[in-house]
Parts: sequence; C-alpha cells; structure tokens
Amino acid sequence: MKDVYGQALLDFLIGQEKELLIHTSYGNVEEMPVEVFFREPSDFTPAEILAINNCKGRILDIGAGAGSLSLFLQHKGMEITALDQSALALEVMKKRGVNNLIKSDIFQLQNFKADTLLLMMNGIGLAGDLEGLEKLLCKLKSLLNKGGKVIFDSSDIAYLYKDCPLPNNGYYGELTYWYEYQGFKSNPFKWLYIDKSLMKEYATKAGFKMQVIDVDDYDQYLAVLTEAD
Ligand SMILES: C[S@@+](CC[C@H](N)C(=O)[O-])C[C@H]1O[C@@H](n2cnc3c(N)ncnc32)[C@H](O)[C@@H]1O
Repeated sequence: MKDVYGQALLDFLIGQEKELLIHTSYGNVEEMPVEVFFREPSDFTPAEILAINNCKGRILDIGAGAGSLSLFLQHKGMEITALDQSALALEVMKKRGVNNLIKSDIFQLQNFKADTLLLMMNGIGLAGDLEGLEKLLCKLKSLLNKGGKVIFDSSDIAYLYKDCPLPNNGYYGELTYWYEYQGFKSNPFKWLYIDKSLMKEYATKAGFKMQVIDVDDYDQYLAVLTEAD
C-alpha cells in the first residue's frame, strides 16, 4: 500500500473505517481520528470560520485532504481549487463533489495564480522544516495575485518539552511522522510547527507582512500574510 493516508480517507468515505495510527519522532504513537478530515461545517473551529470568512477571490486550498473546507467554500459560491499530493485524497474529494482539483506537490505547482492561498490544520507545516519554510514562502509568493494573501494556522509546541530539554539538533518544532494503516507504514515525512515570533521572522525575510488574527488556549494561531509594501 503506497498511499497509506489516502487509503484511510477512502475507506472512511465508503464506510470501511479502520484504525489509522500516527508515529512521531519523539516516540509517541497515537490513533489519528480519520473523521477529523471529514468534519462538517458545524464542527469547524472558530479559527477555521475566521479563515473561511477571510477568503476572497480565487482560492487555492493547499493540502486540502478530504476537502472539508473546499466543499464548504464551493457551496458558498466561491471560486475554489483544492490541491493535494495524495492521489487517493483527490479521489475522495472528487467523490465528495469538489469540482476543481489539482494533484500536485505544492513545491512543483506552476502556472497557477490565486488571490487567497489557504493552508489549514497546521497547514504551513507541510514546509517540513525551517529550510522548507523558506522555499514554501517563496513558492507561495509566486502563486499570489497582486493584493493577495496567505491564510494559515500553526502552533507553538514548546509545551511538549516542559519536562525534558529542548532538542539541540535543530528547531523544536521540526517533527517527523509516519502513518501506519492495516499493517502498512507510510514513508516518514517532516512536519513543521512554528511559534509566532519565528514565523514572523521568516515571513518578513520572504517579503511578507504577517498579522496574527486568532490565538486559542493551546497557542494555536491563525495568521494572514500579505505582501510587504
Ligand atoms: C493535515 S492534512 C490537512 C487537511 C485539510 N487542510 C483540512 O483542513 O482538513 C495535510 C494535507 O497536506 C497534504 N500535503 C502534505 N504535503 C504536501 C505537499 N508538499 N503538497 C501538497 N499537499 C501536501 C497531505 O496529503 C494532507 O492531505
């Protein structure tokens, strides 16, 4: 099984849900509740609602997963395209009725321009690490129409280290995960959780102005990037 995560989404959609496990580089194994990817508008968090309300013009939902946010925006009559690198996630979104789909690694996307780039569920994390973040911000800039914006969420995971020292080999928000499903393991992939002030530094370096528009009790924040003057 190559696309372990996408297979879990597809099985859930057809009512054959099985346990999806997620392993982390800091030694944890947890069950990943697949229904989270299929959340209904009534399940959206206040930050997600705020993110949706800030979307304007042509929207690209990057790392759209099972397409819950894309579907909602589409039903609102917005011009929305969902992008994901997982072929089976694309199949799920197609079956759920998302009309405009792109199967691509965001780093490889060419010839597309949008007014809003949306990256949700710790979405900016697909940068993988700080080096990847520099590349991602440069890529996002190239995809934006003049006056456009990037809307994303992330969180500070320093709390994970409150009883142990911070890692001394890189930024503490750079994690590695892999999925396990039906005895099959995905390739490991990196995911970045970045605190607000470091994110602001990277955004500024990339020529963006960053505005934090929501922070919740778990230090998860929602932010908007616009081109700096
Ligand atoms: C945490 S899920 C986010 C789901 C979705 N945004 C939501 O709010 O329900 C992350 C998604 O990003 C996709 N992804 C990860 N890296 C990617 C990349 N480099 N290019 C495109 N999609 C990517 C994964 O396949 C996965 O569907």
